Amino acid sequence: MPPIVLPKIDFNREFSFSDQDFERVRQLIYKEAGISLNPTKKDMVYGRLVRRIRELKLASFGAYIDFLQSVAGKREFEQFVNALTTNLTFFFREEHHFQMLGDYLKTLAGKGEISIWCAASSTGEEPYSIAISALEALGSTGRSPVQIIATDLDTSVLEVGRKGIYSADKIARLPAGYAARYFDKLPDGNYQAKQQLRDMISFSRLNLVESSWSVRKPFDAIFCRNVMIYFDRETQFSVLKKFHPLLKAHGLLFVGHSENFYFAADYFTLRGKTVYELTKSKP
Ligand SMILES: C[S@@+](CC[C@H](N)C(=O)[O-])C[C@H]1O[C@@H](n2cnc3c(N)ncnc32)[C@H](O)[C@@H]1O
Repeated sequence: MPPIVLPKIDFNREFSFSDQDFERVRQLIYKEAGISLNPTKKDMVYGRLVRRIRELKLASFGAYIDFLQSVAGKREFEQFVNALTTNLTFFFREEHHFQMLGDYLKTLAGKGEISIWCAASSTGEEPYSIAISALEALGSTGRSPVQIIATDLDTSVLEVGRKGIYSADKIARLPAGYAARYFDKLPDGNYQAKQQLRDMISFSRLNLVESSWSVRKPFDAIFCRNVMIYFDRETQFSVLKKFHPLLKAHGLLFVGHSENFYFAADYFTLRGKTVYELTKSKP
């Protein structure tokens, strides 16, 4: 007689979370957001979703996933995705990019509107760093020629970005002098990006793995940093192919510090440290 395999029960957890439940979560988030969850992330997934299960007063992870897949659970999908995205970001992350951006923008000065797409903007520190770099490079009087489209899949982080309000410890990461120049101190001790900065950025939801994107115009630069690490090679490649026609001939693609797209050499060529330009002979 074959041995009977009993499901593993974790008595330390408030809700049971079987390997099968984890596999279902993995498949759902991959299909929805392109995020490939490593098998070692089971505890992380538990920690991030357990609040949803409590809030919905469900009895188990299995019941939560069933609910997500039901017609009634459609609206919960947004919360599910928001809970599973990793939103770590900070002002002037990978500072060399902003120095390079400033130099690049100076070469475009006086040639009309400059459009930049920040494609996984999280809570906004990245697009505000881009806006500050633009004002530093091109001057801050009058209306800035730089317009930034900031998009993310996670609706809760977009809301933070729109408000542009950050705690003092986040603001402390700004280069010297920028806090006073570009942020207003609020009575509660937080800081808000000045109106001039906020006017340069429009925030909206865009899922990089969806077949059609709401952004149309060719950009002078695309920032897509520290998101493709969550995608598998096939997904990365399809996103890169879609970026290609959205960059102007002289455009730059800024990527994250651990992202390397050598496999897309037909489309993008390394121009500097984690910065790409269009490969001259288009495929
Ligand atoms: C680690 S943060 C990086 C933020 C910022 N780009 C940076 O480098 O500091 C990754 C962001 O990618 C977003 N994201 C994940 N999957 C996405 C997708 N399919 N489409 C758009 N954004 C996505 C997440 O919501 C998260 O805000």
